[in-house]
Amino acid sequence: MSEEIKSPWPGPAGLIPVTGGRADDANAHNRVYLDQILVEMRVIDSVLPDLTTEIFGEKFASPIMMPAFSHLDKVGEDGRTPMEEYAVAAKELNVLNWVGMESNETFAAIAATGAKTVRIIKPFADHERIYSEMAFAECHGAVAVGVDIDHIAGTDGNYDVVDGIPLGPVLGEDLRKYAASTKLPFVAKGVLSVHDALKARDAGCSAIVVSHHHGRIPFGIPPVSVLPAIRKALEGSGVAIFADCSIDDGRDAYKALALGADAVSVGRGILNPLLKEGSKGVVDKVTRMNQELTEMMLYTGIRDTSSFDPTVLHFKEGMRID
Ligand SMILES: Cc1cc2nc3c(=O)[nH]c(=O)nc-3n(C[C@H](O)[C@H](O)[C@H](O)COP(=O)(O)O)c2cc1C
Repeated sequence: MSEEIKSPWPGPAGLIPVTGGRADDANAHNRVYLDQILVEMRVIDSVLPDLTTEIFGEKFASPIMMPAFSHLDKVGEDGRTPMEEYAVAAKELNVLNWVGMESNETFAAIAATGAKTVRIIKPFADHERIYSEMAFAECHGAVAVGVDIDHIAGTDGNYDVVDGIPLGPVLGEDLRKYAASTKLPFVAKGVLSVHDALKARDAGCSAIVVSHHHGRIPFGIPPVSVLPAIRKALEGSGVAIFADCSIDDGRDAYKALALGADAVSVGRGILNPLLKEGSKGVVDKVTRMNQELTEMMLYTGIRDTSSFDPTVLHFKEGMRID
């Protein structure tokens, strides 16, 4: 594909874009796909909606969650701890917090903020490391644990190595053992096909995150495009379906929820506010997203977060819904 896709990032030059905007950036495809989705209006009998969302048996104020970020405490040389700062925002907003590859020490500091947090662990080649990080998370009050199964490949045609630690394959049998080894709900993060969704279900996962990890796989399909098929395939299974990638405002969140997600994570959409203004920047950003989501629900007659309806969505010509 040679055509250049212009980055939709509206922020000032020099800040980190939500997508690189390159045609070969799988996340750019996701942005373009989301922008092709239009909504019809259903205002008669519509009233202000309730955003309360139950996830893993706990009630949260919104279906918009934090992302599973990592490594941010290394960004600044000013001693700031953005990993904790966005956890503080999650607590204030009463939304579910997520954290990616971090040390046990950092996970403990995040948990100490009081934010209800899911810990996502890398698919380490050394499985003992996965078990021990899961056990640590369980002891420190994590709400759920999981593995980002989409972070297997490096760009050199081998399993990736992160911070000097080798990653490895995730077999269905491995997932089954991880899920069985913890009392907590177990999440497979990085599902981009019905094929993997069914394998995750069969392995005993309580939830999946439909995601390509902001474009790890070259030319990956937009995660939101596969949501309806995954929703249908997992119907009646009890497996919760989350989604992320390019969710940058409340309208994006609305579309992903209408397409079948039970909840969504904003990703790099919080990065600039977080790095510039800390917790307050994240609280302001997600508060605005909640307002935009509420506005969309009010325009389309959706009263609560269990009543999203894909039939309000229309695709611009040439795009398909399933
Ligand atoms: C700085 C940074 C660190 C990340 N670290 C992890 C990680 O350790 N584990 C993980 O599963 N995902 C990680 N992600 C991916 C996010 O959880 C999420 O899938 C992705 O950012 C969503 O796409 P978006 O940024 O376009 O919204 C990271 C993303 C960023 C930007």
